Amino acid sequence: MNSGKLITFEGLDGCGKSTQLEKVHDWLTSRGYTVLKTREPGGTKIGQQIRSILLNPEHKELQPESELLLYLSDRIQHLQETIIPAKKAGKIVLCDRFHDSTVAYQGYGRGLNLSSIESIVEHCINPYAPDLTILLNISPETVAVRLEQRQKQTKKNRLDLESLNFFKRTAQGFKALSAAEPERYVCLDGEQKIEVIHHEIVAVLLKRFHYQDLS
Ligand SMILES: Nc1ncnc2c1ncn2[C@@H]1O[C@H](COP(=O)(O)OP(=O)(O)O)[C@@H](O)[C@H]1O
Ligand SMILES: [Mg+2]
Repeated sequence: MNSGKLITFEGLDGCGKSTQLEKVHDWLTSRGYTVLKTREPGGTKIGQQIRSILLNPEHKELQPESELLLYLSDRIQHLQETIIPAKKAGKIVLCDRFHDSTVAYQGYGRGLNLSSIESIVEHCINPYAPDLTILLNISPETVAVRLEQRQKQTKKNRLDLESLNFFKRTAQGFKALSAAEPERYVCLDGEQKIEVIHHEIVAVLLKRFHYQDLS
């Protein structure tokens, strides 16, 4: 049986996606699994160029529709070049953000009508839906605190400058998406301690995929 899986981490900026993804990576590799860590945008060579356009704070003239199409281009490259081959090779792919982020941020957050991209999504993205999506919920107020924490270490990016209301709308998007697909989604309280969340994620992985110790 092919053990290849796509597990995505979703939620607002600063909810702990990268922190938890790293811990899941270490947990799985210590058990002998082959894991690929990747992220959107930027999981391929082309994707890295797209990422630098998307996250550059100087790109104030970037149109919302252009932004949307750049995210989709990045995702299609990522699926074809990275995710699908890795899954076929039996790897567990851990992806920091995926299509749900586009729906939540561009659709709900920016209020874009996503019907114009429906057929691309239908053909190029939906056939490769994640096997599991871990949504870490934090309040939009916590976003500000977490980003401030992180900005002590890194430079601000374009999304870090968004308003509280934008994050409120985006959180509504994630809520609607998770309600629509309860089998794919696991929603966890991202306000808890890092270790507590990690243990909850491990419990989910054991229950869903029965990851034994191979090492
Ligand atoms: N559960 C948590 N409680 C408190 N701080 C956290 C928690 N998870 C992550 N952090 C901190 O919040 C900041 C953002 O976390 P990060 O994992 O980078 O979030 P994301 O990748 O979702 O944007 C980092 O400084 C991180 O150390
Ligand atoms: Mg991150």
